[in-house]
Amino acid sequence: MKTIDLKNKTVLVTGAAGFIGASLCRELLKREPGITLIGVDSMNDYYDVSLKEYRLKELQKLGGDFRFIKANIADKTFMQELFAQHDFAVVVNLAAQAGVRYSITNPDIYIESNLIGFYNVLECCRHSYDGGRQGVEHLVYASSSSVYGSNAEIPYSTDDKTDSPVSLYAATKKSNELLAHAYAKLYQIPCTGLRFFTVYGPAGRPDMAYFGFTNKLRRGETIEIFNYGNCRRDFTFVDDIVEGVIRVMRGAPERQIGADGLPLPPAQVYNIGNSHPENLLDFVDILQQELIAAGVLPEDYDFESHKRLVPMQAGDVPVTFADTTPLQRDYGFCPSTPLRDGLRAFAQWYKQFYQI
Ligand SMILES: NC(=O)c1ccc[n+]([C@@H]2O[C@H](COP(=O)([O-])OP(=O)(O)OC[C@H]3O[C@@H](n4cnc5c(N)ncnc54)[C@H](O)[C@@H]3O)[C@@H](O)[C@H]2O)c1
Repeated sequence: MKTIDLKNKTVLVTGAAGFIGASLCRELLKREPGITLIGVDSMNDYYDVSLKEYRLKELQKLGGDFRFIKANIADKTFMQELFAQHDFAVVVNLAAQAGVRYSITNPDIYIESNLIGFYNVLECCRHSYDGGRQGVEHLVYASSSSVYGSNAEIPYSTDDKTDSPVSLYAATKKSNELLAHAYAKLYQIPCTGLRFFTVYGPAGRPDMAYFGFTNKLRRGETIEIFNYGNCRRDFTFVDDIVEGVIRVMRGAPERQIGADGLPLPPAQVYNIGNSHPENLLDFVDILQQELIAAGVLPEDYDFESHKRLVPMQAGDVPVTFADTTPLQRDYGFCPSTPLRDGLRAFAQWYKQFYQI
């Protein structure tokens, strides 16, 4: 593995106003005072844009050399100009259209952001070496646990076959891994794909279950628990994801020559998950307790009358469970924040953000 010192380097984070992107930028600005951080985000309205604006405001407060550009990574001209203006040492591609269910009704945006956008990132990394320049030392990109489809084997290992996606979103993420591998082989771009497992935390995504449940419970509405609660998810606290991403940014796959005398693709894929799947009903129970403790819901909240057990939805999978042994082996880290601690941080943030 090649160690990369981020000190005084220029780093590109796409999806910088997003949940994980903004959390990553925050930590990079805190830990790497000399860094020049370029954040790109289209600020799309898939969910409440004011949340993205809030995250950016919080970042601006930190000082440091953070420059935000509102732009679409699917815009090739913009991307080429961006890479012409900056010598990025590390690129972290988090910009994507997320969400499994939304991809059933809105496929176009997944093709645009997740395929064309990612292709543009790869092309720009490829040309960053033109003219003998050092170019991009490491491309880190977000993949997803959804690539495992309805994998029967648990925990999910990066050695498992992932050729049977059950949603368009998953198919785009698997495609990212394949495209990255091909570009790594052809142009020796050191690439690492990270399969994130259900990420949650403060300033998170309102389209995700824990946030949506909280909104509904607060309004006195009934929440729907899919597959009658027989779902197990590896819920991963955002700070753990950020720690993992930063460690990975600092260690790129080595460029090596194979036995046939040809370059080997410096491409890797890792899981980042909590490795401790929780039953959905237990998850909701802890969430409710923490919402009461934080003062988001009243002490006497009648929780039982506000939940309904319903069947599974198309595109969903019954269990996700990450094997993080390779991440631990290569980067000495795996997520471990207990669900209660993470949900407490979310509940406290929620109370303050919505001024309850
Ligand atoms: N949160 C999770 O549980 C989870 C799980 C697995 C994978 N991921 C992946 O991690 C990454 C970050 O996810 P997140 O939860 O922070 O989602 P997010 O939606 O909060 O962040 C993504 C950001 O990318 C921006 N964006 C989308 N398309 C763009 C484009 N074409 N050009 C520029 N910006 C664009 C959006 O405006 C958004 O701010 C995504 O790639 C997502 O697929 C997330």
